[in-house]
Amino acid sequence: MSENIDSILHEDRQFPPSDTFVKQAEIKAADLQALYDFAEKDYEGFWEQQARDYLDWHVPFKSVLDSSNAPHFKWFKDGEINVSYNCIDRHLTLHADKTAIIFEGENGDVMEITYDVLHKAVCQFANALKANGIRKGDRVVIYMPMTAEAVVAMQACARIGAVHSVVFGGFSAESLKDRIEDAGAKMLITADGGFRGGKIVELKAAADKALASGCPTIEKVVVLMRTNHGVKMKTGRDAWWHEMIVGCDIVCEPEWVESEHPLFLLYTSGSTGKPKGIQHSSGGYLLGAATTMNWVFDIREDDVYWCTADVGWITGHSYVTYGPLAAGGTMLIYEGAPTVPDGGRFWKLIQDHKVTTFYTAPTAIRALMKLGDDIPNKYDLSSLRLLGTVGEPINPEAWMWYHKVIGQEKCPIVDTWWQTETGANMIAPVPGVVATKPGSCTRALPGIDADVVDKAGNPITQANAGGFLVIKKPWPSMLRTIWGDDKRYVDTYWGEFNNRYYVAGDSVRKDADGYFWIMGRIDDVLNVSGHRLGTMEVESALVAHERVAEAAVVGRPDEIKGEAIFAYVVLRGARPKGGVDETLTKELRAWVSEQIGPIAKPDDIRYADNLPKTRSGKIMRRLLRSIAKGEAITSDTSTLENESILEQLQGKA
Ligand code: WTA
Repeated sequence: MSENIDSILHEDRQFPPSDTFVKQAEIKAADLQALYDFAEKDYEGFWEQQARDYLDWHVPFKSVLDSSNAPHFKWFKDGEINVSYNCIDRHLTLHADKTAIIFEGENGDVMEITYDVLHKAVCQFANALKANGIRKGDRVVIYMPMTAEAVVAMQACARIGAVHSVVFGGFSAESLKDRIEDAGAKMLITADGGFRGGKIVELKAAADKALASGCPTIEKVVVLMRTNHGVKMKTGRDAWWHEMIVGCDIVCEPEWVESEHPLFLLYTSGSTGKPKGIQHSSGGYLLGAATTMNWVFDIREDDVYWCTADVGWITGHSYVTYGPLAAGGTMLIYEGAPTVPDGGRFWKLIQDHKVTTFYTAPTAIRALMKLGDDIPNKYDLSSLRLLGTVGEPINPEAWMWYHKVIGQEKCPIVDTWWQTETGANMIAPVPGVVATKPGSCTRALPGIDADVVDKAGNPITQANAGGFLVIKKPWPSMLRTIWGDDKRYVDTYWGEFNNRYYVAGDSVRKDADGYFWIMGRIDDVLNVSGHRLGTMEVESALVAHERVAEAAVVGRPDEIKGEAIFAYVVLRGARPKGGVDETLTKELRAWVSEQIGPIAKPDDIRYADNLPKTRSGKIMRRLLRSIAKGEAITSDTSTLENESILEQLQGKA
């Protein structure tokens, strides 16, 4: 990171919540102040109180925080709990007939599931898992379309103490294989396919391909019939979901697990090597999801809450599968793309299901904004009362559009900063209290000690000076480790400042009001459409192609995706004439898509005879970034062996 991180964004507008919103908000100014004061005065006592208020414990905990093996912190370690019980069973007494999930498929099929029905479905599937040899601690990989059954599968794992690892359905067979092998999973739950973008996503075919090339630990494959388009089933290994549950009891006593028992692994990109399996706990993780449903999403009895994230990402874990159910809420799940049959689909879903709370990503907002106001204006969006965003900084233009056209100037926007690793929202406005500013995630939530520090780890007190975003105290929903790699966990998140702080990997500044403004990543991680991708991952995929000798990947700003992928490639043999070979470019894009998934496809590929390197052989990424942006070159290029490659990199020769 450079010594000084310059900030170029200046935004002074402020939007306090309306009186109407404040009046009905769960948390008012005095409540929020009381929470901050409590956490300030007695940090552990604060989290102890939340854990008792928000969760039902089978065996109450006595120990709140154990730091004896820091940074491997333990929360509520002698307590016993079951996450599925907290998400479903405890609502049955008063809310058995309340709708838990409204599902709408891309083709328009709708299904409503009450808490009672969800309970039976989860229990029955949990019993089927048990009948197939799945026990507490076993890993189960889930590779499914965005369906209610994906939530059932995750909840069923939680119910019996199995550790799920969801792999996003947009990832390729190769990525699926890597994750199954790293997790050592015994079972794979998938579907024959899913409907997305007007097409069938061939999940079963990808699963077959992954298993054919490795994954020796997989004993069983469970297949949900979603598309019914005739997939091959392997005798002895594959079973249809609907056949497997026949005869299984609809009652399944939850497996009470220690609070620290791993609930799930979720793989995410880092700056080096393979994706890392972020390991989350049971009690602490659920506490983060549950508290923020109240603090940030202000969830109420009659809300219809919709988070558009896929269960393959952390947002789909905390704010689809776990948080809304822990809060006893009603949520919408939509299977497909926002543009099927047209760009009005999201707005139609809000109208049809009377959605009150809508949580999505800036990239989706920008893409839909581009289609014009006429589309959303055709729909009745008056049910909305709260909007949210996540995944990347939102540009003020998109924020204002979201505020005016979608929120009709009456809905607060909660811009929530957090990460796969943090488990839950960390920096976000409490909507009935905090005035928002377009592009800022505002303040850290109660019990979250976030700050900006300089290279030496000292807090930066000067307003708007950029630095590292750190969390200074452990918090309940933090990751526990990287699966199978404690050292990488310590090095990646705690190494920078000698185990003093958790280092998020983002650069940030605080303005004069103490509001946080995220400025970007400080490592080699790209944020493409709100999804994290390591530049190294894309580079390794490119280099795995027989014609590629070397590759360097950087991000360049993109109007819709936030960041686009720009690849510089050195071929084995001669560089294409004039640097252009459209057939090869097409082939390489398809290749990367197959190696990782369509989200990793390079947007631009530029061929050069060599990559620019420093004397020590390091690729000059900053130079490549400037070129990708079309900026003038200011870096020192005197160390380049061959100045002429500069012209090639710039696409001029
Ligand atoms: C970025 C997603 C600005 C950030 C929940 C972070 C954001 C990374 C925001 C985590 C936000 C997430 N404003 N940037 N509101 N939310 N980010 O693990 O760089 O997929 O480190 O978790 O996304 O991405 P992840």
